[in-house]
Amino acid sequence: MPIFRFAFGWAEGELAGGQERGLELQKKRVQRVRRATGWKSGDALARDFKHWRILATNLGHAALGAVMTEQVDLQPTEEVLARYPGDARHLISVLQDIQLTYRYLPREALDRVSIALGVPIAKIYAVATFYKAFSLTPRGEKVLRVCTGTACHIRGAPLLLTELEKLLDVKAGQTTEDLQFSLEAVNCVGACALAPVVVVNETAHGNLSVTKVRRLTKTKGNKVANKKAAAKDAN
Ligand code: FES
Repeated sequence: MPIFRFAFGWAEGELAGGQERGLELQKKRVQRVRRATGWKSGDALARDFKHWRILATNLGHAALGAVMTEQVDLQPTEEVLARYPGDARHLISVLQDIQLTYRYLPREALDRVSIALGVPIAKIYAVATFYKAFSLTPRGEKVLRVCTGTACHIRGAPLLLTELEKLLDVKAGQTTEDLQFSLEAVNCVGACALAPVVVVNETAHGNLSVTKVRRLTKTKGNKVANKKAAAKDAN
């Protein structure tokens, strides 16, 4: 089993060299194991990864533990890739579909896309970090984009942003721990007549006030934000 060779190899690396050297060695071995296992993401591989994470943690190799923690189901990625010819021209469309599916671009999925479309991984990251629509970290179920363009700024966008940051307990650019909300500050969204505007996923909410914006954070599961919003509404 390649994964066991990897285990022994990694232990040898740890014993033979310093932590830095061991990590580099293992990164290469991780890639070799992935290739050897055909990039499968089934239960067996998931079990192996779990085993590896525990092993890495036990040996105090936090960085490698983090590497091994990322267990992404690649089945949806395969389904997306099956819809397109294996051609670099379809890179953005594929990334858009993957972003829609996972709500972000998992590293494992990008590795798979690189192979399937024959695009270097560095180029994929360049595209993924260039467009704001893509995210390399998990995003919340609802993405709240507070417009901070001139018209919205003049009409109170900073107050709305501060209020949302307080309610959700995150800063702009962050996601709540329960993955329900992501908060972003963005440039003009093209609805200046409705300023100030907050776009929730694809829906624009205009003419907002601090009181109205609280409603955008109300969901069934978000008890903290709901409680805070209800308390403020009562005042
Ligand atoms: S400035 Fe906010 S929509 Fe244009």
